[in-house]
Amino acid sequence: MKKKLLALLLGSSLVLALAACGGGDDDASKEKDTGTTGGETTTADAGDAEKLFNQKCSSCHGGNLEGGVGPALDKAGSTHSKEDIESIIANGQGAMPAGLLSGDEASQVAEWLAAKK
Ligand code: HEC
Repeated sequence: MKKKLLALLLGSSLVLALAACGGGDDDASKEKDTGTTGGETTTADAGDAEKLFNQKCSSCHGGNLEGGVGPALDKAGSTHSKEDIESIIANGQGAMPAGLLSGDEASQVAEWLAAKK
């Protein structure tokens, strides 16, 4: 009896957690019109990440990831995993300031860059 109750509780909190994770999509739709043309998979998320990058990172890394003050990132994903890039964003590296982005925004940009190989 107790076990059943526990399983029920665990089950429903899992559902809640999943529901919470899936909730990121609703505010993405309004960004759609800013997506670039010509990209292979121009999802709303990629558009967001690119926009964030242009706001926070392109001054040093270039609007086309070609580099500038900071190194080129057009192949960032071949040497850095998403987790690596997230921690570089959070902690900074060398002359790069820490904490330019945080939370969801940091992980979106990290994921986007990790796909550049
Ligand atoms: C003030 C300039 C500046 C800004 C803004 C900046 N960076 Fe950097 N970034 C650098 C510099 C300089 C380095 C090289 C640091 C070193 O290794 O000495 C670097 C390194 C990196 C690296 C590692 C590259 C490698 O090959 O080791 C990544 C990834 C990166 N930046 C991502 C970002 C992202 C994402 C943003 C925006 C959130 C950003 N940077 C904003 C200056 C900047």
